[in-house]
Amino acid sequence: MLLSSLLKVVEASLCLVSIIAQKVTQDPQPMLVWKKEAVTLDCTYDTIESSYSLFWYKQLSSGAMIFLLRQDSYNKQNVTEGRYSLNFQKASKSITFVISTSQLEDSAVYFCALREPTVRRT
Ligand SMILES: *[C@@H]1O[C@H](CO)[C@@H](O)[C@H](O)[C@H]1NC(C)=O
Repeated sequence: MLLSSLLKVVEASLCLVSIIAQKVTQDPQPMLVWKKEAVTLDCTYDTIESSYSLFWYKQLSSGAMIFLLRQDSYNKQNVTEGRYSLNFQKASKSITFVISTSQLEDSAVYFCALREPTVRRT
């Protein structure tokens, strides 16, 4: 419930994001990160599309959503940026977000979101 309402916030604040699927499962659930060690956040998703994009966001205590990383399904490499990296397993429909050495400033709620194409092929 909380997750879906917050995903709607993402949708509202980013007109680029055409569809944010409801079928996203995170493990652990949207969580607080505050440890000086590597943190991994798992996200599995469900789609019948072959072409889609996955996004990771962090929500600050102010409520602001910060975009972190984007992985396109056709990208054959894991996206990495600074202390953030992804382990994208397309075959098992899972994407893990890794913060290599987490710091106090990483304390936030993290979300993954799936964007599917707006035009569906049948
Ligand atoms: C991401 O990295 C993992 C672990 O090295 C690997 O198994 C996986 O195939 C990689 N995914 C992509 C899309 O490169």
